[in-house]
Amino acid sequence: MWGGFAAPHEFIFMTVRQGSLLQLSLPVRTRVEATPCQSDSRMCITVHLPATTSNLGPGFDVLGLALDLWNTVTVEPAEGWKVTITGEGEGQLPQDTRNRVAQAFRWTFQQVGAAPPEGVHIHCHNRIPVGSGLGSSATAVLAGMAAALGWMGHPLDRDRLLAWAVQWEGHPDNAAPALYGGLVAAGLNQEGRPWVLALDVHPFWTQQAWLVLALPQVNLPTQEARRVLPRRVPLEDAVFNLAHALKVVEALRRGDPDLLREGMTDRWHQPYRLPLIPGASEAMQAAQEAGAVAVMLSGAGPSVLAWVVSDPGPVEAAMADAFRAYVPVRTWRLRMSPQGLWVQE
Ligand code: HSE
Repeated sequence: MWGGFAAPHEFIFMTVRQGSLLQLSLPVRTRVEATPCQSDSRMCITVHLPATTSNLGPGFDVLGLALDLWNTVTVEPAEGWKVTITGEGEGQLPQDTRNRVAQAFRWTFQQVGAAPPEGVHIHCHNRIPVGSGLGSSATAVLAGMAAALGWMGHPLDRDRLLAWAVQWEGHPDNAAPALYGGLVAAGLNQEGRPWVLALDVHPFWTQQAWLVLALPQVNLPTQEARRVLPRRVPLEDAVFNLAHALKVVEALRRGDPDLLREGMTDRWHQPYRLPLIPGASEAMQAAQEAGAVAVMLSGAGPSVLAWVVSDPGPVEAAMADAFRAYVPVRTWRLRMSPQGLWVQE
């Protein structure tokens, strides 16, 4: 346990599994936080997990970005199984073995052929709103898996966690940035195995950009938001999205807000999803009129995320007002997170 002390500098090694091998070594900022363990037990593991936004407009199911908004999950020995939740999802998420963190924790023991402990207390302190399009479901799965690996004394193997998380989530674009931090492209190869690429982000974005999030009180499960998408896209729309996704990636690499504005448009998912979210189209337009560089649905929605490189206040107010004409809304001012999941033992 190193609560109060800086952990050794951590390095992430990322592997592209298909085609040529690319090894990236990223220095990871570590944070020092007091351990939230409640008992004196030596076996107490805390997993810190960032929110993520996926798609980034035209990069449907491929692009993902980690945000500086964190859930923490602490697992320690107990008599029987107990799950407690504070913060987002409190009183809403199951507090027993149906809880997704608990299920992923137990599942991981089965995967490696080990018996799960007879009792644990899993405590989730959630800052990431549930069902918002910020990857809270991926963080739950990853928290359970990472805590289980730590419990068994296995090293934190991010590639392995990504492959497992995809089995639960179906797509890697939230799990990958949650694991590796920063901006990533991720997908599945011909055999269905996940790959991930860390993409460069210019310091302009990490230092100066706000990601202003507006979350309307709308229930839009990801399953439903995927069900409305056409199974096939016309060739011209495929070309359109490919071209615009490349602009987004290059705009983030170069630190070019004008290019981001040009690139942040999509024909594959947003046109089908926006009608399901009262006020979303209006909020996106209001954000642009108030000075946002670019606006997008966060993941499958229902939240809307605006990129702002000036005072975020007017954009935040404009989005909130636009949504409020239809539904209650909450807002956040977020930064990117170059750091992904980390474990405190
Ligand atoms: N890429 C996924 C989608 C993210 O848009 O459906 C859902 O979390």
